Amino acid sequence: MTRILETRRLTPVTKYFRLDAPLIARSAMPGQFVMLRVREGGERIPITIADYDRKAGTISLVIQQVGATTTLISALEAGDDILDVAGPLGSPIEVAAGAHVCGVGGGFGSAVLLGLMRELKAKGHRTTAIIGARNKDLLILADELKPNCDHLAICTDDGSSGFKGFVSQQLERFIEGEGPGRPDCVVAIGPMAMMRAVAETTRGPKVKTLVSMDPLMVDGTGMCGGCRVMVGGKAQFACVEGPAFDGHEVDFDVAMRRNKAYVKEEKQSLERVNC
Ligand code: FES
Repeated sequence: MTRILETRRLTPVTKYFRLDAPLIARSAMPGQFVMLRVREGGERIPITIADYDRKAGTISLVIQQVGATTTLISALEAGDDILDVAGPLGSPIEVAAGAHVCGVGGGFGSAVLLGLMRELKAKGHRTTAIIGARNKDLLILADELKPNCDHLAICTDDGSSGFKGFVSQQLERFIEGEGPGRPDCVVAIGPMAMMRAVAETTRGPKVKTLVSMDPLMVDGTGMCGGCRVMVGGKAQFACVEGPAFDGHEVDFDVAMRRNKAYVKEEKQSLERVNC
């Protein structure tokens, strides 16, 4: 059992959780994830660690309510327990020393930039973050990100806050020399379509790009093969070899198709939870 210490609603469908998890906090690194299970017999879902505090022994997660399990978790509050939290799992995100790194977060993916930007800045990297959402009410954690970014850019589809347009369009302007200028490395975390657009934006100018893949997972430890993604024509297991991969090598068509494989079952499961 893992105790929830704090919760905060960030948007109508997104919630922040701080968990008492000293063993996970001790070794967690940016880009890694945990597997959660909320009830006996329930599914296990991967959630990328947004941030961690080794001293306090806590980890932070941001969960978007999309299916049965995330709906059950979203109903929990401080003082409640989560049945299983296993991790940290996966490989940490690695970038070359001293690089100017641009983290690009879409929707609740922006949360994962928290720990990443903090670690990179502490190591002496120049850090830029671009976060985006459909409108200003869906933007999350901009204030928390700011202290660890040399430059923070906000984008909204409707122009209600910051740059009017997609994060990939803002990134393109930076690569062309605007604002903080061309990054040496981009790390994109968010919806698959957004990560694909970011990878396409950086392909021509040859900016190294990592994308944090979010495939279906069962065990999270490399045993079931459920999380495989095609990278450079080879099958890779996101739970051990990822979840971050070279965005220019990922086959997004296959990844998007595989993520839709159980849409019908997921819908039925959500209907049972909502009954
Ligand atoms: Fe089973 Fe990755 S989740 S191999």
